[in-house]
This record gives sequence, C-alpha cells and structure tokens, in this order.
Amino acid sequence: MNTQAWITHFERNTRLNDEMELPTEACTLPESARAPLVASIATFQLGESGTGSRLRRYAREVAPLENFRGYQRAIDLFVAEEQSHSRLLARTVEHLRGTLLTKQWTNSIFRRLRFLVNLEFAIQVLLTAELIAEVFFGTLYLRCEDPVVKKVSHKLLRDEMKHLTFQRDFLSERVATFNPLGRWLWKAQFQAIHAITCTVVAWDHRHTFRALGLKPGDFRQRCLQAWERYQERLDEELVKLDSKLPASHSDEVHGADHRRAG
Ligand SMILES: [Fe+2]
Ligand SMILES: [Fe+2]
Repeated sequence: MNTQAWITHFERNTRLNDEMELPTEACTLPESARAPLVASIATFQLGESGTGSRLRRYAREVAPLENFRGYQRAIDLFVAEEQSHSRLLARTVEHLRGTLLTKQWTNSIFRRLRFLVNLEFAIQVLLTAELIAEVFFGTLYLRCEDPVVKKVSHKLLRDEMKHLTFQRDFLSERVATFNPLGRWLWKAQFQAIHAITCTVVAWDHRHTFRALGLKPGDFRQRCLQAWERYQERLDEELVKLDSKLPASHSDEVHGADHRRAG
C-alpha cells in the first residue's frame, strides 16, 4: 500500500474543508424540506465526529508490516479529515437552523459494531457507512437547491470517493492474505451487513428522500449498486495481487497528485 501518497493527499486536502467559504444567504427551502433535511444532516454530522481512538489503536497492529509502513500516520490524517467533515456539516446544520445531535440510534449501532472484531472489520463497517455517505451526498448535491448544502455535499462526495479508494487499497492487501473460504465469508458478511444497513438508513431518512423527490427504496437500490461496483473493483485488485502483477490500484491517487503537482 502506498501510504505516502495518501499522507500527501490528506495533508493537502483536509485543510480545504476548514477554509471553505460558504454562501451567506439565508436558507429558503420550504419547511417541509428543511426540517427532515437538517435532521438527516445532523445525523451524518454526528457520524463524522468520532475521535477514531480505537481505529488508531487497531492500526498499530499492522504498523510492523512492511507493506503498511506509514499506515498509522495515514489513519491519523484520515480521522482528522472525517472530523473536518463534521465541522463542515455542523456549519451546514447551523445554516439550516437546526440543532446538533449528541446521540442518535443508528450512529450508536455503527460505533458499537465497528470495534467488535479487528481492524479489517472496523474498516469494513466504516466502508459501509462511506458507501452510503457517497450516495447520500451525491443525492443532496444533485437534488437539493440550497447553495450551502450543494457546495458542502459536493466536497464531501469527492472526499468520500477518495476514502473509498483509501479503504480499498488497505483491504485488498489484507483480504489477499485470507484463504478462499475466509475470502468468501468476508464477502458474504460484508454484503449482508451492507444490505441491512442500507435498508435501515433508507427508512430512517425516508422523509428527507421524499422531500428531495426520491423514493427511499430507490436510495436503497443505489446503495446496493454502489456496493456491487465497489466489490467488483476489490475483486479486480485481488486478482492482480494473486497473480503478483504490478498493482495499479493506487494509480488514481498518484495521478491526482501528479496533476496537482503539475
Ligand atoms: Fe466523511
Ligand atoms: Fe469518509
């Protein structure tokens, strides 16, 4: 795993979230859209606010491995980026005249689930949340007319897409070390947990989706498709690692860095 490329990426990208200037106009969304939307965004804000202390502790387990040198630093920066998302979403909640949450039931389940087994499982649960977040922020970006929500969701969508690649870089190298049965079991439980979570999230945020003109069932379907695409890419990476061909899975982040450097 090319951890240095990720360290460089996070170091450049995270500060943009705190420096982001948001439109100053007051929210003009109708109350029927504003109220469910701000409740949904407050839930995602809480989800992004974790300190990542146990994730960081788990990351220490892989630190001695040659191919994960620097991973701990990358995870620290990743957690810092999630916290910058939390701050950006807090500003959005304020703009929408909402109240920040300190507790919410789906968020509590996620936090408990994440630390049950090991680092791979912790990353996988995180990944489930990020796959759903990608669809959620993509939906807000395309369907919400509020300029602040649009700007914030566009940035979060881009960041979460990078996070998905970051997690894939890690997981492909870890899952490659599993035997065939272990891989099958890993994939089956990942799919099952993801499908259940999509159903719960689609139901929990149903009023928001309806206000945005999207059926909750369609949101769930999009999340399931996001999983399919993600797993396909992960399988491709595993084939590459199995055949010991030079992996190209980090080309995306390298390419982005080169483009920025240029
Ligand atoms: Fe995030
Ligand atoms: Fe993320």
